[in-house]
Amino acid sequence: MHRSDPHSYFDATQPKARRLRLKLGVDFAAKRIDGEVVLEFGSAVAGPLDLDTKGLEIHSVQVPGHGPIAWALGEADAILGQRLRLEVPAGTLEVAISYATGPEAMALQWLDPQQTEGKVAPYLFSQCQQIHARSLVPCQDTPLARIAYQAEVTVPEGLTAVMSAGPTGDEATADGRHVFRFTMPQPIPPYLLALAVGRLESRDLSPRARVWAEPETVQSAAWEFAGVEDMILKAEGLFGPYPWDRYDMLVLPPSFPYGGMENPRMTFLTPTLLAGDRSLVDVVAHELAHSWTGNLVTNASMEHFWLNEGFTVWAERRILRILHGDDAAALGWAMGQKALEDSLARFKSEPHLTVLRMHLEGIDPDDAFSSIPYEKGARLVAALEREVGEDRFLRFIRDYMDAFRFTSITTEQFCAFVDAKLPGALEAINATAYLDQPGMPDTAPEFHSAQLDTLTALAESWADGGRPSAHQIASWKPAELQVYLQKLPRQLTQTDCAWLDEHFRLMGRGNYEILVEWLTLAASADYEPAFSRIREVLLRVGRMKYLRPLYGALGLHARTRALAREVFAAASPGYHGLSRRVVQSVLDSYPA
Ligand code: BES
Ligand code: ZN
Repeated sequence: MHRSDPHSYFDATQPKARRLRLKLGVDFAAKRIDGEVVLEFGSAVAGPLDLDTKGLEIHSVQVPGHGPIAWALGEADAILGQRLRLEVPAGTLEVAISYATGPEAMALQWLDPQQTEGKVAPYLFSQCQQIHARSLVPCQDTPLARIAYQAEVTVPEGLTAVMSAGPTGDEATADGRHVFRFTMPQPIPPYLLALAVGRLESRDLSPRARVWAEPETVQSAAWEFAGVEDMILKAEGLFGPYPWDRYDMLVLPPSFPYGGMENPRMTFLTPTLLAGDRSLVDVVAHELAHSWTGNLVTNASMEHFWLNEGFTVWAERRILRILHGDDAAALGWAMGQKALEDSLARFKSEPHLTVLRMHLEGIDPDDAFSSIPYEKGARLVAALEREVGEDRFLRFIRDYMDAFRFTSITTEQFCAFVDAKLPGALEAINATAYLDQPGMPDTAPEFHSAQLDTLTALAESWADGGRPSAHQIASWKPAELQVYLQKLPRQLTQTDCAWLDEHFRLMGRGNYEILVEWLTLAASADYEPAFSRIREVLLRVGRMKYLRPLYGALGLHARTRALAREVFAAASPGYHGLSRRVVQSVLDSYPA
């Protein structure tokens, strides 16, 4: 059979579920969700129906009014999971499946109280992108099959559930638990299904935005993200009215494996953003921008992931430019350039993972993940913008969002649309070089500012004794220091490290981008005074963006390798399954 999405058993010739009705019972003792999902088709359907599942235990499949129907689970594929094939009788309007999640469900991380801020209650969160929704609920787990949903989540009394949906009420149950109800009326790709349960409180930031977190952090979270309404207004100025009603955010425990996740109506955020100086809110700009680029107009499959992330990085920096000016945006592009170069180096011997239009059959999308769809993609978008001019490009972007809202599209659909609206533009920027050729085209746009040039020159003069002046040290903003550190030679001496720490007080930084950049340099230099801070960070934080470079740098020396192995042994039970896998692969690449 031809697959529309290489990462799903979805068959486009079969009936498509339009809406899900979910009942989820969260059992912390068993680390299991007991689920019932009703797939609504919107009209009478019949015939075979293939769903995606991974690690699920299927209990029964029923058609209401008809009774149990035949079902069969296929062979387990390491990437796709198991196909669940149903035989749907004629006239079926909906199918009900009762099931339970498996102990290894990749979509879920179950935290013991010890792993939370308050240390008194357990916590559960989901992360369904890329293809983990199928370990939470049997479904057509491809962005091609968009679904609306409604859900009822039952949790222990005293805990709160939030989802990527609007809340519609909650109440105590007869058996002493608590049920929370939600509805997501707009059709979303299944990777945007999201759930978190914990001891949660919220603070309103504006009439349509609030932040949720554990009581211990909610106040600092409210302070850090106080500017979100302004960001929404700026984004609306660019892309049109915010299409999802509310924009709420949840600050997760530190094991959350990403910086942010654009779950609609409830962005998930790492607590490492709580720098205490609002210096990391560009991640919120990014997740907010996904409300248009990604959630409204969605990639058809992970092969077209750049349509989500490349556009969003471009949009994030566009918002940043309006909020903080050209220099701040240029620094953002410089940080992106570093990430891009690191990813190109990592995939040196896998050039097929450095194109934008990917071929991912047989490849786990989590293994193909890198900064390339983000930064190469954003450079393609910026090149188009430069080619046709800002105003015309913004009109084009609005047309694009209008034309494809609430749909999931391929690179080919995008290109056809550009050809229709901006004829000749793709050829002019040599789009093929971005889309289908490895590496970066030499015509890719570059981003400059006087300040960026100063930082670059100064960092490049390090080996010749160039050092920042006392004035520079005192006046640099966090983003400037971050870019400076990123541009320093990767192999510093221990004396260099001591100088940097003394002058910039790096060890105590609350901005994790700076802290981790510094600790990575220190690890590469085998700089012992940093070891205890490295240990602390690796034991606390599960964000893959930080684990990969830190564990990578620890691989350079015998004693730092020993440190890495020791810390990983202690930290890995607390890591998310995805993070554990990434770190394991880094450790496996160490010399014996
Ligand atoms: N959607 C991504 C996170 C993601 C990507 C989850 C792939 C699962 C698979 C999110 O929008 C994102 O890109 N987050 C970045 C932040 C950013 C500012 C580039 C992150 O987590 O660091
Ligand atoms: Zn993103």
